[in-house]
Amino acid sequence: MIEIAPTDRVFILTGAGISAESGLPTFRGEGGIWRQRRAEEIATPGAWKRDPHFVWEFYSMRRRKASEVKPNPGHAALAALEAAIGDRLFLCTQNVDNLHENAGSRNVIHMHGELFKSRCESCAQPPFDDAQTYEPPATLPRCPCGALIRPHICWFGEVPFHMDRVRRGLGECTVFIAVGTSGVVEPAASFAAHARAGAQARTFYVGPEEPANRSSFDQLFLGKSGEILPKLFRAL
Ligand code: OAD
Repeated sequence: MIEIAPTDRVFILTGAGISAESGLPTFRGEGGIWRQRRAEEIATPGAWKRDPHFVWEFYSMRRRKASEVKPNPGHAALAALEAAIGDRLFLCTQNVDNLHENAGSRNVIHMHGELFKSRCESCAQPPFDDAQTYEPPATLPRCPCGALIRPHICWFGEVPFHMDRVRRGLGECTVFIAVGTSGVVEPAASFAAHARAGAQARTFYVGPEEPANRSSFDQLFLGKSGEILPKLFRAL
């Protein structure tokens, strides 16, 4: 159990593992997305330039899958934590699904973008809600400016979103908890170390196996997040 005092600020970083029990595949484990497809062929600016149809096919498939699943008790526990401690919780996810929101979380930072949003590849129009799927022979959507519309996703080689707010959150938090993330993708893999360096946060990991950045954590809670998170917090 993690005790949360009235003065604590809690930073939670979630990864693909929290959505695994909802039926969405992770990236690197058995059956993982990057076991079947190479990330460089599909999730990089180079892949988009080479073959935007292929990239849209991949994200269309993921949109379809993500719209078929429901949040699990892990997502629900984090929504309940927000209801209990309000803006003392900073919830940052690497996930592009909307399961945190569907579970009732109100303030979610999507550092790797959002599956159900798209934006112009070229002009400064903001991202917009988009649940469409684009599969051959569909023509790809275009912005009024003429450029292609792309998924609102942070691809490898691009800068994650909302990093100013994330850095502030990491500097202020006194409790840091990573959930279901393998700890290999930067910059998220270094967040626990930043939280320790900032307000000397206590650091915890929740997931079935040790993450690659294990040494950044004070304590591990090994198991499925849908089973551990509902019993993990005691807000004092
Ligand atoms: P990974 O696939 O690398 O890691 C998923 C983690 O979830 C593993 O450590 C598993 O042990 C854990 N896991 C599996 N089942 C779980 C369960 N029921 N409860 C809790 N944990 C469980 O996914 P991420 O670390 O999220 O980026 O990957 C980080 C980024 O790499 C992703 O956001 C994505 C990917 O490439 C982009 O697409 C930009």
